[in-house]
Amino acid sequence: MPDLSINFAGIKAPNPLWLASAPPTNCGYQVMKAFDAGWGGAVWKTLGVPIVNVSSRYGSINYRDTRMAGFNNIELITDRPLKDNLDEISEVKKHFPDHAVIASLMVETKEEWEQIIKDCENAGVDGFELNFGCPHGMCERGMGSAVGQEPKVLKTIVGWVMEAATKPVITKLSPNISDIREPGRAGVRGGTDAISLVNTFKSIVGIDLENYAPLPSVDGKGTNGGYCGPAVKPIALHMVRELADDPEMNKVPISGIGGIETWRDVVEYLLLGASSVQVCTAVMHYGFGIVREMETGLIQFMADKGYNTIYDFIGKALPNVVEWKDLNLNYQIIAEIDQDKCIGCELCFIACEDGAHQAIQLNKNGEIRIPEIIEENCVGCNLCALVCPVEECITMVKKDNGSEHLTWGELSEQGNIPTTFDDELAGGRGHWVPKPTAALKN
Ligand SMILES: Cc1cc2nc3c(=O)[nH]c(=O)nc-3n(C[C@H](O)[C@H](O)[C@H](O)COP(=O)(O)O)c2cc1C
Ligand code: SF4
Ligand code: SF4
Repeated sequence: MPDLSINFAGIKAPNPLWLASAPPTNCGYQVMKAFDAGWGGAVWKTLGVPIVNVSSRYGSINYRDTRMAGFNNIELITDRPLKDNLDEISEVKKHFPDHAVIASLMVETKEEWEQIIKDCENAGVDGFELNFGCPHGMCERGMGSAVGQEPKVLKTIVGWVMEAATKPVITKLSPNISDIREPGRAGVRGGTDAISLVNTFKSIVGIDLENYAPLPSVDGKGTNGGYCGPAVKPIALHMVRELADDPEMNKVPISGIGGIETWRDVVEYLLLGASSVQVCTAVMHYGFGIVREMETGLIQFMADKGYNTIYDFIGKALPNVVEWKDLNLNYQIIAEIDQDKCIGCELCFIACEDGAHQAIQLNKNGEIRIPEIIEENCVGCNLCALVCPVEECITMVKKDNGSEHLTWGELSEQGNIPTTFDDELAGGRGHWVPKPTAALKN
């Protein structure tokens, strides 16, 4: 059976499936229950000078039938005294010596950083995570994302921590920045042992149409919150990839966070360079039990592909992420409809007609209207296949013979790219479009 154990920057764990610092790691009871269910590590709810929270605290985007497709919160770090948390950390470590217990920290002064690091090490933590990401409340007090958005300050604080800590240090980044490599590189320059990302995205999930206050509302007022859950996964994946592929990051281990819910999500993060993952929203939605699907799925994937350890495939997708200019312009696919599977809903027709390239026509076929692809108009954009509600009904079929490979980069070097507004070399030149007046009914 494949071996899931990891050594993440010196932090050992039976598997790469960790709980992110958040409500599921508020207390020892939860962390013990999670380890018992199969989680390999837990980043404790951020410790610091305890805060006072508001109610309500959470909001969400319910997209059609999917509840909590995106999740938003305005809660702060732990509201429990440090001693209570540390006593429980010690107790968890006694019961689970081989699991990773990581203390997430957020304090202000150098003295506070030094003191809390010492206290946590005495309690038996396996490592630290520095919370430079919280984009609400704490940033107004000069902490959280206020640090994550200032690479120089971030580097200084990482430096303080590295001097004080004897256990490995993970720097957790805020995604609320235009180039994630800047705080990532600052962390590495400060000496961090590892990076984790993402914390939550600054957001307003909605407005209450009765009292005109942002959601979640607190006595008729609201504030921006931190957005996470399935909706943020694509953005987080891209940020993980940017850091994993950046030479200045010196290949420090990355813990991937954001919208992870299934084993497939886990594998995607690992393929893009993460070597552990962390989960919050999915556990808040479905409970600790989701780790069983993640673990068995991961083991099955590794067995199917012949991988013995997760290090056999970490970063395997990175070489396939290239710049746009390096994509093959001669690769050509077009849509094909399986007439037997089609239910005649016409969603593909209207999507292509109004939103793409007028490459689908309706064809009366008895009672049901089965659409047809107009091959010469199809540009292979995928839209119809994406909107079609029937699995595998529209497939994209390769039309080129694969013998020619030509990229924009190569075309540019040859001087064969359009350079004037009406250039003969324009890609869409001669591509048929209906006459504008054909849009009018009469
Ligand atoms: C209610 C809530 C509270 C959170 N509290 C913290 C926190 O105390 N410290 C921290 O580093 N991140 C905190 N986070 C962020 C999560 O650790 C995680 O980075 C983020 O939710 C993205 O992961 P997800 O999409 O799996 O939820 C919190 C998230 C939520 C939803
Ligand atoms: S792939 Fe794009 S252009 Fe081709 S039929 Fe579908 S929607 Fe139209
Ligand atoms: S969207 Fe799919 S099922 Fe609906 S008409 Fe088009 S091909 Fe048929």
